[in-house]
Amino acid sequence: MIAAEKVRAMHRERAKSDCALFQAPGRVNLIGEHTDYAEGFVLPAAIEFATTAAISPRADNLIRIYSSNFNEERGYDSLALPAKGSGDWGDYPMGVAAMLAGQGHRIPGFTLTVASDVPLGSGLSSSAAIEVATALALQWLMGFELPRPKLARLCQRAENEFVGANCGIMDQFISANAQAGHALLLDCRDLSFRMAHIPENVELVIANTMVRHSVAGGEYRTRRAEVEEACAVIGKHRPEVKFLRDATLEDLAQWAEEMSANAVKRARHVIGENLRTVAAADALEAGDLKRVGQLMAEAHESYSREFEGSCAEADLMVELANGLPGLIGARLTGGGFGGCTVNLVEKSRAEEFSERLGAAYKERTGIVAEIHKTRAAEGAGAVATS
Ligand code: GLA
Repeated sequence: MIAAEKVRAMHRERAKSDCALFQAPGRVNLIGEHTDYAEGFVLPAAIEFATTAAISPRADNLIRIYSSNFNEERGYDSLALPAKGSGDWGDYPMGVAAMLAGQGHRIPGFTLTVASDVPLGSGLSSSAAIEVATALALQWLMGFELPRPKLARLCQRAENEFVGANCGIMDQFISANAQAGHALLLDCRDLSFRMAHIPENVELVIANTMVRHSVAGGEYRTRRAEVEEACAVIGKHRPEVKFLRDATLEDLAQWAEEMSANAVKRARHVIGENLRTVAAADALEAGDLKRVGQLMAEAHESYSREFEGSCAEADLMVELANGLPGLIGARLTGGGFGGCTVNLVEKSRAEEFSERLGAAYKERTGIVAEIHKTRAAEGAGAVATS
């Protein structure tokens, strides 16, 4: 996490005024992949990487946003906000402003400074972190406070409608609602959730394959379309099935012939993944780590074979982890096609595990992976408001 005082100093230098500071974390998903937009279940946790946003009002109607990651500034007119993004990093904060404007808020002029240590394009929700941090900053500036599930929904809409990435609710929700030391089982249908404590002797090890991942990219869209195709076919026969969350493996077997071969495989993953995710939360709460690990292994297998959402490097990273002492469970986390694996590891072996995993991956691929140990972190919040 970037020190808030550093961001305050950066902001002060540009805006020549004091600021309020907010932070929103990235996430790993322990299990439940591509289930959120099927109104299913996910089990993410926030991580110790976050976006920090510093904000101060302006006397004019200008919006000035500076990103310390890109060392660039963007300017907008608060009285003529763009309706759509332009493929630029500024789309994430501006998308949030545009959604608020769409709800009838008058957006004032402001100066915003954002700084993030969530690795970009790694499947750790750097986008959600900047959206949620911006949303907290803007609502403070404008003097209101949305309930957190609503705030998460607003940020998801910014990404869907302004940025143009067809993501579900998971990333924004966990960033806004996480609790330190816990994973969060979210029912993406009604946004009800419960916390599952992660035992103190378990560490989260995030292994970055260094293969870039993008939700805006074509593969995420194709998969989502295939999931929706399967759902539409089942829904023709059982009209109460509006999302794959409502379908069973029996439904799938019964009407598989009416679907493309890909749709059948994607649906098999999603339907099974919902069952695995709820089972994993139960097992975690019961302290049955062995079962959690088994479910993660099954989930990875399904993600890779049925959903075809993995890549050779991520499959290798999981395979190498499986052979190491201390591992409880490993799988590719996030939207897929690259990015990071999440490993639940016995704390006393986590250091050794990380070193050995990095060395083995380097030996097999020539790639130096970034490996991070983290505890499940607290969700977004204010750092300083005076
Ligand atoms: C990305 C999206 C999420 C979710 C995952 C896959 O992270 O932003 O909404 O769909 O992929 O589980």
